[in-house]
Amino acid sequence: MKKLIAGNWKMNGDKAAAVALMKDVEGKIAANPGLLTTCDFVVCPPFVHLAWVKDNLNKSALGAQDCSEKASGAFTGDTAPSMLKDVGATYVILGHSERRQYHKEADALINAKAALANQNGLITIICVGELEAEREAGKEFDVVSQQLSGSLPEGANAQNTVIAYEPVWAIGTGKTATPDDIKAMHAFIRQKLEQRLADGKNMRILYGGSVKPSNAAEIFGVDNVDGALIGGASLKADDFIGIAASVK
Ligand code: PGA
Repeated sequence: MKKLIAGNWKMNGDKAAAVALMKDVEGKIAANPGLLTTCDFVVCPPFVHLAWVKDNLNKSALGAQDCSEKASGAFTGDTAPSMLKDVGATYVILGHSERRQYHKEADALINAKAALANQNGLITIICVGELEAEREAGKEFDVVSQQLSGSLPEGANAQNTVIAYEPVWAIGTGKTATPDDIKAMHAFIRQKLEQRLADGKNMRILYGGSVKPSNAAEIFGVDNVDGALIGGASLKADDFIGIAASVK
């Protein structure tokens, strides 16, 4: 299975910066086409930049960072999955810890968003991961198990869903989980997916949280790591492509 290299640009950059970054990423992929034999790429810019980033895509796929659980109507500020599809997105990140934390998104809402996204032909990247206090209390497996069972909608399968394990304490902090921690959690997630889904063994499980060129090779070497969800390092084409280049 190729690794999925997913960039989560979060709420960064103006139009010029978004276009320049996309051009830079595509230029580096074009200069090193061998990357496409080991990696698939997706970039997830802010909503307002989706259209012009799409205009500058070549080998990468386009993703959004969230979507509504409603199809259309009086939901000020929200964006329907069909609109994302219409603008050229094929992926959508759902249940990112920043949405769970700052927008109080719960598993049931993420589940409803994912179901509608799948119905509209989008591939979801569903994020799970424990808080630092939860890990310290030895509850990381319980937390992730509950997030997985609550957030994955009916009809989720290896074609329309990707899981991203992002320990919240490792996001944007420079701290990464140890290879042993990642191995244990990804094996646990794999087991849960296999129990629930006919094709659970084929569902991609990404790792996220301070992934950078200097630690990517070690992370990609861990069993059941099928790619990375990359925040800070996805804002620099050199780093984003450097991470992809460390896939063996
Ligand atoms: P980070 O973010 O790479 O900056 O830690 C990852 C994410 O939040 O998806």
